[in-house]
Amino acid sequence: MMRLAMHVCIAQSEGMTNPTTLLLGGTGKTGRRIATRLTAAGHAVRAASRPAFDWHAPATWDAALDGATAIYIAYPPDLAAPEAAGQIRALLRRARSAERVVLLSGRGEPGVLPAEQAVRDTGLPFTILRCAWFCQNFSESFLRDPVVAGTIAFPAGATAEPFVDADDIADVAVAALTEPQHANQIYELTGPALVTFADAAAILSGVLGRAVHYVPVAPADYEPVLAQHVGPEVAAALTSLFSFLLDGHNAHLADGVQRALGRPPRSFAQYAAGAITAWQPALAHAS
Ligand SMILES: NC(=O)c1ccc[n+]([C@@H]2O[C@H](COP(=O)([O-])OP(=O)(O)OC[C@H]3O[C@@H](n4cnc5c(N)ncnc54)[C@H](OP(=O)(O)O)[C@@H]3O)[C@@H](O)[C@H]2O)c1
Repeated sequence: MMRLAMHVCIAQSEGMTNPTTLLLGGTGKTGRRIATRLTAAGHAVRAASRPAFDWHAPATWDAALDGATAIYIAYPPDLAAPEAAGQIRALLRRARSAERVVLLSGRGEPGVLPAEQAVRDTGLPFTILRCAWFCQNFSESFLRDPVVAGTIAFPAGATAEPFVDADDIADVAVAALTEPQHANQIYELTGPALVTFADAAAILSGVLGRAVHYVPVAPADYEPVLAQHVGPEVAAALTSLFSFLLDGHNAHLADGVQRALGRPPRSFAQYAAGAITAWQPALAHAS
């Protein structure tokens, strides 16, 4: 019975005899984009998430790791979670066929360093992607409904953030999973410009053809709103993290996309124009 469940829940592309790339968080914003790209290029991919693979259920790990030669890790809900480093270290100890590891990390976030160290301590070739805020938080995550409602009430003040497009992160991750020159690199991935939340709302207004406002709020007022989506415990941790990340220390650009791919990153406006189908059904329903 258990065996059958594993087969149902771990999505695997054809080609079991090929080296297999394991994507942990394979259904998430970056994981599914990486899966699409690797599959299209003919790689065997195992995209793992719950219930078949669960970070909090080590009994599920070995089936996911079996035969995996390259591993991508997107650790939920945040790599700075206190248990992240220990779980990643324990999982990678069991990854006997692994030849390289790519870790999705955060930028300007001291709390992620123990987890990054756990990856580095394996001695395997590694690539660490220290990312800015994802553009896709506005279309595939907790900011999507506020965009549709026309009011983004969020505790970011007037701080600018160089939002990065998850498609760029996926392009860099695919390169790191398949090309040797990215071994032992840390790439800091940002978009090409600093964008305030008010700028983002103005760009989204233009793309959607309807007003989207940004309203700065206090963290204490935002936390209960986020709790409706992720529960009170995660909301408390994330609200505190957001306040730290958006205090201005990350308001500068980095060259990771250019360095890894030899091309510039996509802008927030390019992202918004391409993401319009993410908001249209909800907008049609609302009108
Ligand atoms: N979002 C950002 O702006 C941003 C910026 C920088 C860094 N990051 C980092 O990116 C990572 C991913 O965050 P995200 O917000 O983008 O999430 P995401 O990758 O879009 O979604 C989380 C993924 O993890 C899976 N998952 C959730 N709980 C799990 C569990 N207990 N065991 C196994 N898989 C589980 C989810 O699938 P199921 O729910 O189906 O299990 C989903 O595939 C985090 O480490 C975060 O720190 C995010």
